Amino acid sequence: MQFTRKHLLGLEELTADEIRMILDTSVPFKEISERQIKKVPVLRGKTIINLFFEPSTRTRTSFEFAEKRLSADTINVGISQSSVVKGETLVDTARNLEAMRIDMVVIRHSASGAPAFLSRRIDSNVINAGDGWHEHPTQGLLDMLTIRDHFGRLEGLKVVIVGDILHSRVARSNIWGLKKMGAEVGVCGPPTLVPRAIASLGVKIYPRIEDVLAEADVLNVLRIQLERMHSNMFPSLGEYNKLYGITTAKLEKAGRDVLILHPGPMNRGVEIDSDVADGGHQVILKQVTNGVAVRMAVLFLLSGGIPAGASEAARMSES
Ligand code: CP
Repeated sequence: MQFTRKHLLGLEELTADEIRMILDTSVPFKEISERQIKKVPVLRGKTIINLFFEPSTRTRTSFEFAEKRLSADTINVGISQSSVVKGETLVDTARNLEAMRIDMVVIRHSASGAPAFLSRRIDSNVINAGDGWHEHPTQGLLDMLTIRDHFGRLEGLKVVIVGDILHSRVARSNIWGLKKMGAEVGVCGPPTLVPRAIASLGVKIYPRIEDVLAEADVLNVLRIQLERMHSNMFPSLGEYNKLYGITTAKLEKAGRDVLILHPGPMNRGVEIDSDVADGGHQVILKQVTNGVAVRMAVLFLLSGGIPAGASEAARMSES
């Protein structure tokens, strides 16, 4: 089976087979990053623009690593260096970049729907690197790959997303992706940060973290996005930590082995304590490592590459 989509805009629109295809294709790409010479000629001659209108450490650098390791030519455009600050529109910016003959645009934008909007107006492949509160599909994919690496499956697992669900594109991509792959998904956080409507996506709402810790196989702990809050959504960061923060004391009290993910960046001492963030339950840096492989797979498949299982990814990993 071939990956036939032109863009990666979100996991809501992907089928379970397409998600499995990306995860399976990521596996042979992992090995390339472990080589002395971390480069294969898969995207030689392709030009990719990374258009980041919001700050990023992990997503921007791992897309750039993925592109360079696949031998694409890459250019990073940050909002502060672009003519957007002089009033140029997103579409004009992208069309001007296209006039220089590019093949793909990786875009992060504060407006939900910006990648989809762009995909209808330019010819290049568009990859959503996080849009507003909407989706962060490659984060959802790398989270699923990391969970699958640990358990050998996604089906039947109980995954609970903890924290600021309201503002989280990571939560939405996790929910869409994990549900399609047969996992049970729950959310937990202060009522002001857990929209009731999320239940309509088939998600269980847990009011108390203690109930989560008694049941969950996996916690995906989200950052409290203070920069998106224009009023107080909870009394204090200390109280948030006490009620919803993932601490060693809470994990010990639960007495169960729970796998802990965090998409980063972390607020240590708020949603997660340092001893948990650096401790034996977590796979936070494995997520970051997997991010490069997942993004290589996405770039490869969108450029017409043959999914793993079908032979080309394996052939390519030997070249
Ligand atoms: N997880 C994530 O999107 O991190 P960055 O904001 O650093 O890219």
